[in-house]
Amino acid sequence: MNKVDTAGNRESIGAPVSSSPGRHSLIRRRSTSLTAGRSELLTKYPEYAATHAIDELRSREFDRLDRLGHVYLDYAAGGLYAEAELHDYYASLRGDVFGNPHSTAHLTALASAARVAQTRADILSFFNAASDEYAVIFTPNTTGALKLVGESFPFTSEHHLLLTSDNHHSVNGIREYARRAGATVRYLDVDPIDLRVEDTIVSEALVYQEAEVEGLFVFPAQANWSGVKHPLRWIGEAQRHGWLVLLDAASFTPSSHLDLGKYHPDFVALSFYKMFGHPTGVGCLLARKAALSKLQRPWSSTAPDRAVPGQPSAQPPSSANFEDGSLNYLSIPAVSIGLHQLSEIGMGLIQTRLMILTEWLLTELQGLTHSNGTPVAVVYGPKHVQARGPTILFNLVDPNGVLADGTAIEQHANLQGISLRTGCLLNAGGPTEAVRASLGLASNFDDCFALIDFLKQQTDLTAQEMANPLLS
Ligand SMILES: Cc1ncc(COP(=O)(O)O)c(C=O)c1O
Repeated sequence: MNKVDTAGNRESIGAPVSSSPGRHSLIRRRSTSLTAGRSELLTKYPEYAATHAIDELRSREFDRLDRLGHVYLDYAAGGLYAEAELHDYYASLRGDVFGNPHSTAHLTALASAARVAQTRADILSFFNAASDEYAVIFTPNTTGALKLVGESFPFTSEHHLLLTSDNHHSVNGIREYARRAGATVRYLDVDPIDLRVEDTIVSEALVYQEAEVEGLFVFPAQANWSGVKHPLRWIGEAQRHGWLVLLDAASFTPSSHLDLGKYHPDFVALSFYKMFGHPTGVGCLLARKAALSKLQRPWSSTAPDRAVPGQPSAQPPSSANFEDGSLNYLSIPAVSIGLHQLSEIGMGLIQTRLMILTEWLLTELQGLTHSNGTPVAVVYGPKHVQARGPTILFNLVDPNGVLADGTAIEQHANLQGISLRTGCLLNAGGPTEAVRASLGLASNFDDCFALIDFLKQQTDLTAQEMANPLLS
């Protein structure tokens, strides 16, 4: 694990703790090159300096990362919470008494109901969604939101379900509902090199069945393993051809602003812990009310004072028809705190910073070579920062062109305090075994430097040695 000096610099990347003079000169060399790296970054990307507020945020709110020597590079799996989020959250819990909002009349239930209602309003406002157009349906996570659409979409043999092949595994669950109803399921494959889906392939597929009945088109705003961002203009195009659109925004929303005043997908699925770490267990389905009325829930848990037992619910579609049982009413208000934090920093600033760091990483990663001139890493998907998020997928290759075992690389990186994601990433179409580094809100240059330093240590090693540090 890394150590932090009094100035807050990470003093070494992974060297074992020892007091030998050799180690000290190694530490000096590395921290010198870290300092040199920082100033090169600023020379190449002067606009990075304007993101210093996030460096301050990192040392104020995320100091546990450096204190404990963590290089966290798995934001695509889960965001990290700021200390202030916890502070504000627990202060709010301590400041009142909260009952279950299902008990509609008493004071403590009303206090909870008001906070949940405020959170719904804050979510709509954050995504610039009109309250007469969209409803917020709380779910445990993105998967829960996707499942709600899957189980309620009125699939028949007349219907088409269209998916890009880089959808998250959770989206594939919808396919099971479609197949059971005899609907036509079609995948649009990503290009094997840049891992994008060509525009013309999408356009042709959308026109193909100008349907009698509305089909369902599902794609990720940002693919979770390649970082590819798909064009959001597909949403309007699909709708013009008679499709309802379900946008999986789980990977997109932590580092990009989704503007529902500009794009109007029928359904949006997302998880809040990916955006700001806390709370886990709360996601949402943002649904256009017009689209919601087309769904048919396989069950209704509407309260008995609002529905006649044994009769289909007579209620117009609303979020309540899609939220089963008691809401996570103590955690839901934490979402407002997280959204407020992101708004204060500014999604634009977060994106600018992360794309600079991503470009630096991509350049360094692709510039690493063994002594025989062959590359140390092979990057999958886009090799540049256009239309992508701060997620990079790659594998390590030895001087003979043999791929190193991804899972073993993850273990090796662990020894240096680096959290990478590897292994069989949850997708049907992508490379099964690869290493993913993903940046997020608290990422800084030092994290990226630590990753490149780790990869440099793999230079000239065989694939076996890369995977097993004891051999090298
Ligand atoms: C694009 C995408 N969709 C869906 C999911 C599933 O999210 P959750 O596990 O929060 O349900 C993920 C999780 O990584 C994701 O990245």
